[in-house]
Amino acid sequence: MNRNRGSLDAAAQPASSPAIPGFRLRSSMVAVVALALAACSSEPAAPAANSSAVTSIELPAETASLPDSPAGNLLTQRCTACHSPDFLTRQPPLTVEKWKATVVKMREAYHAPIAPAEDDAIVAALLTLQAGAR
Ligand code: HEC
Repeated sequence: MNRNRGSLDAAAQPASSPAIPGFRLRSSMVAVVALALAACSSEPAAPAANSSAVTSIELPAETASLPDSPAGNLLTQRCTACHSPDFLTRQPPLTVEKWKATVVKMREAYHAPIAPAEDDAIVAALLTLQAGAR
């Protein structure tokens, strides 16, 4: 009996002193949780918790412009209310007929403020710029 007890006590010894290893395990878990919380609180999303915070973004500056010439100025006036200069200068080279149809479409489908009397001047301006002239 004593022997068995002795061996039980011996076996129980490591099991009863794990209070320290157990504490270490727990404290390391606490450390992991604390680190996780610290990581969360240092994320940039944290200010979003304040719903009244003002957020601002910086847009790249629009640097493209149409040339300061009669053709460029006409297209700036008639087209850039809806299109960027970039959009206009990156179009594929079109024929007079296709450009005229596009200008008519802008007026009829999208209500661009373009008088029919201006169509030919606008088409000429588009061809002038596409030819690389001003
Ligand atoms: C009132 C706004 C408005 C104006 C002003 C305007 N457009 Fe448009 N344009 C549009 C819309 C809307 C589209 C269609 C965009 C889409 O499909 O994503 C378009 C499309 C285009 C396209 C793409 C091809 C196509 O047929 O859809 C070209 C080229 C174009 N416009 C050229 C011009 C030119 C040149 C002028 C000036 C003479 C002009 N636009 C003026 C609204 C406008």
